[in-house]
Amino acid sequence: MSDHKKNDQDHDYETTGHSWDGIEEYNKPLPRWWLMIFYACIVWGIGYSIMYPAWPGVKSATAGILGWSTRGDVEQAIVDHANELAPINAQLASVDLEDIAANPELNTYAQNAGAAVFRTWCAQCHGSGAAGNVGYPNLLDDDWLWGGTMEDIHYTVTHGIRNEQDLDARYSEMPAFGRDDLLPKEEIAQVANFVMTLSGETPPAPDLVAAGAEVFDINCASCHGEDGAGDRFQGAPNLTDAIWLYGGDYASIHETVVNARFGVMPPMGGAQLSDAEIRAVTTYVHGLGGGEAAE
Ligand code: HEC
Ligand code: HEC
Repeated sequence: MSDHKKNDQDHDYETTGHSWDGIEEYNKPLPRWWLMIFYACIVWGIGYSIMYPAWPGVKSATAGILGWSTRGDVEQAIVDHANELAPINAQLASVDLEDIAANPELNTYAQNAGAAVFRTWCAQCHGSGAAGNVGYPNLLDDDWLWGGTMEDIHYTVTHGIRNEQDLDARYSEMPAFGRDDLLPKEEIAQVANFVMTLSGETPPAPDLVAAGAEVFDINCASCHGEDGAGDRFQGAPNLTDAIWLYGGDYASIHETVVNARFGVMPPMGGAQLSDAEIRAVTTYVHGLGGGEAAE
């Protein structure tokens, strides 16, 4: 027999009265401190499940009388954030566009806020680094279809390009010379060869270039300019700078002349973005490297 057991027998314990083959069950109550905590937890649990969302139902949980929710917390945080930024946004929306750059605090805010707007609203078309893609212009360079001043960019972003939603959208339409039978096949081949020479490329059929220059003069110069340097009022690209929106190889140019192109950008003004947000993203795009000073 161990010392421990012997020791037990020396004491007078209360039992429950249950006995199995002489083995008795001690009656040892839970420690009082433990019980108190246990009961307190039950009370707290009931209180909590009344005050806060708790019991799952079929569609949602019980709401709780405090009306608290994580969603509400997030909404409040967004409202707080907007309130905090309201003064600087109001300032951004009211100063002259050209004066944003002169105010370092406002400019820094606009650049940062604009970068965030760009990631959310523009990157899917213009690329996360704004380098663009086929049909979506590179916004890093100083080659502008519609103009690169603060005013120009602000207008483009607010109203968009060739969209149906905004009556003030920038608009122009290159004719589909092949599809709509405006030019015979030979003349399309001639002018496509000529266009390649404008930016110093070697065309596949140099002997057609001279005839192509004439076709260009008659059919294309009205928009792209006599020298092919483009026209921002019509969003007609510069064809002499070897920067291509749709491709500068023979096949791409031929395709452009046959079927034309119709790049669409949605308007960001109105319901989409506030004017402060548009001014922020305008400042950001203007600051990417290609921004132009006001005339
Ligand atoms: C759904 C695609 C799409 C989205 C989104 C979009 N753009 Fe565009 N953006 C275009 C296309 C296409 C063009 C070129 C249209 C054309 O061919 O003239 C363009 C042109 C532009 C131009 C004119 C470039 C020049 O050379 O004149 C600017 C500036 C511009 N976008 C800025 C933005 C900004 C800033 C945003 C976000 C707030 C944005 N875009 C969102 C498709 C988009
Ligand atoms: C009514 C005005 C207009 C006329 C006329 C016109 N274009 Fe265009 N052209 C445009 C516009 C606007 C675009 C840009 C379309 C877009 O961004 O989606 C364009 C785009 C192009 C491009 C694509 C440039 C690039 O960067 O990828 C080529 C090439 C071109 N035109 C060649 C021609 C040729 C050649 C002719 C004559 C046969 C011609 N255009 C006549 C307005 C015109």
